[in-house]
Amino acid sequence: MGKTRAAITGVQGWVPETKLTNHDLEKMVDTNDEWIQSRTGIKERRILRTPGWATSDMCAEAVKGLLEKTGVKPGEIDLIIVATVTADMVFPDTANTVCDKVGAKNAFGFDVNAACSGFLFALATGAQYVQNEVYNKVIVVGSDMMSSIIDYTDRNTCVIFGDGAAAVLLEPRKDGNGIVDFVLRGDGSGREMLHMKAGGSLKPASLETVAAREHYAWQDGKRVYVHAVKGMSGTCEEVLRRNKLTSDDVQWLVPHQANMRIIQSVAEHMHFPMERVMVNIERYGNTTAATIPLCLWEYEKQLKKGDNIILTAFGGGFTWGALYLKWAY
Ligand code: COA
Repeated sequence: MGKTRAAITGVQGWVPETKLTNHDLEKMVDTNDEWIQSRTGIKERRILRTPGWATSDMCAEAVKGLLEKTGVKPGEIDLIIVATVTADMVFPDTANTVCDKVGAKNAFGFDVNAACSGFLFALATGAQYVQNEVYNKVIVVGSDMMSSIIDYTDRNTCVIFGDGAAAVLLEPRKDGNGIVDFVLRGDGSGREMLHMKAGGSLKPASLETVAAREHYAWQDGKRVYVHAVKGMSGTCEEVLRRNKLTSDDVQWLVPHQANMRIIQSVAEHMHFPMERVMVNIERYGNTTAATIPLCLWEYEKQLKKGDNIILTAFGGGFTWGALYLKWAY
């Protein structure tokens, strides 16, 4: 018998129905469809408008769909990890709310905050419990309600982000398939370039912070862009090298959907053909922690057992990395 690996044995996404198109944004800020498409590749994004709903509700929809699809009962789940920067509340964590909403009575949960790299970090974390044979059924969800922290008067950010959720089930496999390796990195000095200025312990919410519009995502887009290309390409190369793979051995590259030009640059650096790069940014924009599992969900039918897949992301923190897995079904 081979060594135990944590394998993705199911994936399910959920996106809100409401679409915010580039033409809608033209009426809100000084921008235009041509600029947005040529600079980012985005045509529209989804926005959560259901009254009383938040990130946990999108997660719960994705998890419920995942359980139905895989035939797993809520009581069988051991752990739910939610990657998000838009938790329902500052505390408690969103994952335990999700456990409650899906009826996972025997599970515990916790959130991972690594911005756009959140899903990658959470997947690597969840995999440890499974490959070390601590738990058999771990769910990892990537979800963000970015519309709750986006300033729709700021054209530098409002054209980029959208809302969504997607979940994967991790189970042990001994046939060689599953998560093989990962390289995760961070550089806290990058916090200056991508952050929310107020609402944390450094600058608690006050009338002044609200008036100054400091409760929204802020970024120095150009500098983030450069770091994103370098970080994603570098860790992809590292993970390929140490597993003695070339781009030809990899069936799919799944990059975080930040900007179409970033995706193309990473593929170019890796000499990877765009036909084998998962892309759905044109319909969802950047959903932060949800982009990678949403791609896996949409491309699921094209994947074959044993496919070599590289996931890669870059996000606030800065955080970044690449993960190598062999598809299990
Ligand atoms: N519509 C029209 N014009 C816009 C605009 C918009 N939505 N946003 C910015 N502009 C303007 C700028 O003000 C600037 O005008 P100026 O030259 O008169 O100052 C011009 O367009 C060029 O802006 P610039 O910032 O150089 O554009 P860019 O090509 O770098 O693209 C981003 C901007 C934000 C799309 C790009 O930098 C990016 O994607 N960065 C990565 C961000 C990211 O992915 N963050 C998430 C974390 S992973």
